[in-house]
Amino acid sequence: MKIGIGNDHAAVEMKKEIMAYLESMGYEVVNYGTDENASCNYPEYGEKVGRAVVDGDVDCAVLICGTGVGISIAANKVKGVRAAVCSDTATARLVKQHNNANIIAFGQRIVGIELAKDIVKAYLEAEFEGGRHQTRVDMIHEIENRA
Ligand code: RB5
Repeated sequence: MKIGIGNDHAAVEMKKEIMAYLESMGYEVVNYGTDENASCNYPEYGEKVGRAVVDGDVDCAVLICGTGVGISIAANKVKGVRAAVCSDTATARLVKQHNNANIIAFGQRIVGIELAKDIVKAYLEAEFEGGRHQTRVDMIHEIENRA
């Protein structure tokens, strides 16, 4: 499985650690984020990663900024993206099982690195349950078509 990762300047260190963690688990990781500590604009990276996911260049993705919020809001503007901010493992599991989130996001300023690793693992190991949840996911994307 190929996983995209993106970040702004507020999450360079955590991005590097999560990349290494994913690679240690055998995943191929594509880095779309900045590797510089210089201030930059998270919408650029949210959009880039969102497009990589919906274009099928990667299977899913991880986004990290200071809070995980700004970069996920930007990604969610790309049609077909379902990016979910998670600060705990239960939410990380449920956003895959119920929402079929194709991007998981969190904040370097909010969660510690060990929790961040557990969040990513919980998300990747969970499976979408389909059924009534598919109906609701379809309804989300019908909103995009009415926009
Ligand atoms: C950057 O200072 C910060 O605003 C950004 O990383 C993020 O937290 C925005 O939601």
